[in-house]
Amino acid sequence: MSPPIDETKLHAFVGKMLNDLGGAMSVPTVRVGLRLGLFDALDNAPATASELAQRAGGLHQRYVREWALAQAANGYVDFDPVTDRFSLSPEQAMVFANRESPVYLAGAFELVAAMIEAEAKVEECFRQGTGVRWGDHAGCLFCATGAFFRPGYVNNIVQNWIPALDGIEERLRTGAKTADVGCGVGFSTLLMAEAYPESQFVGFDFHEPSIEEARRHAERHGLGDRVRFEVAKAKEIAEDGFDLVTMYDCLHDMGDPRGCAAHMRRILAPDGVWMIVEPIAGDVPADNMNPVGRLYYNASTMICVPTSLDQEVGEALGAQAGEARLSRIIEEGGFETVRRATEGPFNMVLEAR
Ligand SMILES: C[S@@+](CC[C@H](N)C(=O)[O-])C[C@H]1O[C@@H](n2cnc3c(N)ncnc32)[C@H](O)[C@@H]1O
Repeated sequence: MSPPIDETKLHAFVGKMLNDLGGAMSVPTVRVGLRLGLFDALDNAPATASELAQRAGGLHQRYVREWALAQAANGYVDFDPVTDRFSLSPEQAMVFANRESPVYLAGAFELVAAMIEAEAKVEECFRQGTGVRWGDHAGCLFCATGAFFRPGYVNNIVQNWIPALDGIEERLRTGAKTADVGCGVGFSTLLMAEAYPESQFVGFDFHEPSIEEARRHAERHGLGDRVRFEVAKAKEIAEDGFDLVTMYDCLHDMGDPRGCAAHMRRILAPDGVWMIVEPIAGDVPADNMNPVGRLYYNASTMICVPTSLDQEVGEALGAQAGEARLSRIIEEGGFETVRRATEGPFNMVLEAR
């Protein structure tokens, strides 16, 4: 006999589900609003639905009103029923309008959409035990991923993460050779290159469209030949003698992270340092039953595990591997010391020598 229903617990649980479903249903309306510039049009300028529709380039007023009411119900914009005007508070603007803010979340909504688009492929993998190639997930998983991580990188790589490594900032200032492995569309590589004009940077990734996009970004930044982007699997990078190798949110996606670690050791100069930025996680699943762990476990099921299982070895560390397991893999690749140099709410930064 199943245990009796506790009405209080049921109400609390259904309340939570209402909230969660509201969040899920906001994904398409938020994306539409971001693409049509509706959040931007409200930044610093309250508007009625008609004014907003005009301001966003002459959109259909009825759609804009329903959209704005949906965002007000979401709590993503404010609504004044007396003036019938919608507005963006400074905090809401940080999330939906200010692209340089650490909590600009447009990329997160893109990532959710990419996860939904790849549902059928991943579902089949559950049956077959196969993986999904990074480039095959969804229309633009790689653009969404770049956009998702960019705010964290803009606000942390140069300000917090590099300075936390022993002696590396100084070497980058005077001139060091750096490889950014698994660089995706290259935001991390370009941020470092802009901050350290005496140093050389090479971004490597096995996904050709990402590298092509990274090259386009580099051209726009005008950093010349100090920055290059090359298509290469992590384990097959031929250049060596790097003072610093960085890996941003990608070691756990690799099929053979242990083999990659061994190769990073080979391409580093003898006194070189490997910086591994990974999702923050505790060492046991029970430590990750929190809002951040929730995001990562869901993304990991749909993206990280299938990406790794598609490759040789298929270690499938997942996005919540934790420091102990990552350190073990890194040490098995031949590194003597691994330490947590620093951490933030979403990432931990490991330094290996
Ligand atoms: C989650 S994305 C992170 C991309 C980028 N570092 C960023 O933070 O935006 C993982 C990246 O790892 C790359 N990747 C996965 N396995 C790889 C491998 N074995 N060799 C090279 N790149 C790999 C993917 O192509 C993808 O760009």
